[in-house]
Amino acid sequence: MSPGPSSTRSSGTVLITGASRGIGKELARQYESDGWRAIGTTRREFDVTDYSGIRQFAAGLKGVPIDLLLCNAGIAGKRGTALGSFDYDSWEEVLRVNLLGAAAVAEAFVENVAASDRRVVAFMSSRLGSITEASGHTLPYATSKAALNALAKGLSVALADRGIIVVALSPGWVRTDMGGKGAPLSPEESVRGLRKVIEGLEPGDSGRFLNHDGTPIPW
Ligand SMILES: NC(=O)c1ccc[n+]([C@@H]2O[C@H](COP(=O)([O-])OP(=O)(O)OC[C@H]3O[C@@H](n4cnc5c(N)ncnc54)[C@H](OP(=O)(O)O)[C@@H]3O)[C@@H](O)[C@H]2O)c1
Repeated sequence: MSPGPSSTRSSGTVLITGASRGIGKELARQYESDGWRAIGTTRREFDVTDYSGIRQFAAGLKGVPIDLLLCNAGIAGKRGTALGSFDYDSWEEVLRVNLLGAAAVAEAFVENVAASDRRVVAFMSSRLGSITEASGHTLPYATSKAALNALAKGLSVALADRGIIVVALSPGWVRTDMGGKGAPLSPEESVRGLRKVIEGLEPGDSGRFLNHDGTPIPW
């Protein structure tokens, strides 16, 4: 990965899920103010667990190149569940949104990405999804992001011959509804870092798990 400049070199079209608030909203705001066409989707367009809704929305964008697909929508699930008090309904919902929802979005828009100049798919993961760094906490969320990482790595291989770069990104711990008020990073700071990382991506970076400051995170 080459170090990117502090502002983006080029513009294009970016589609971001989960753009109603938090990191997704800030991604859409920054890309748009930098001259990109930012398509920020919310549940009004489609819920990421509604596969036919996703396909319907994608049909409306048929033939439109998408340089950067940011699968960002995610949930934390029920807080405080641990061995002995697992809430399987909540866990299933976390997997449906964080893993299957991201997969469905990637599947629906892959032709748009393939038709673009930049050809990048980025999954918003979390350091908590690192198996190497497993903390033993927040297991439903951690397992969903570990599985999302496996999806990112797998798609990086599956899509390599189409020149599509696929990465898993961690935004850091960010002050959003999910991250809470005590998080050290503002959405502005996290997104500035994420954009710089994305801007510097090269084909050799496909299949990597990268932090918002560009440092690699062990799977
Ligand atoms: N904040 C952190 O510290 C942190 C750390 C690591 C990773 N992340 C990841 O970063 C991403 C964004 O997190 P955030 O902090 O911005 O969270 P957030 O403030 O809670 O926002 C989550 C976004 O995802 C959307 N969303 C949730 N479920 C959805 C569904 N079924 N269909 C469509 N949209 C859905 C929400 O839409 P509604 O407004 O409609 O609910 C909202 O726009 C997530 O993938 C999260 O796991 C965050």
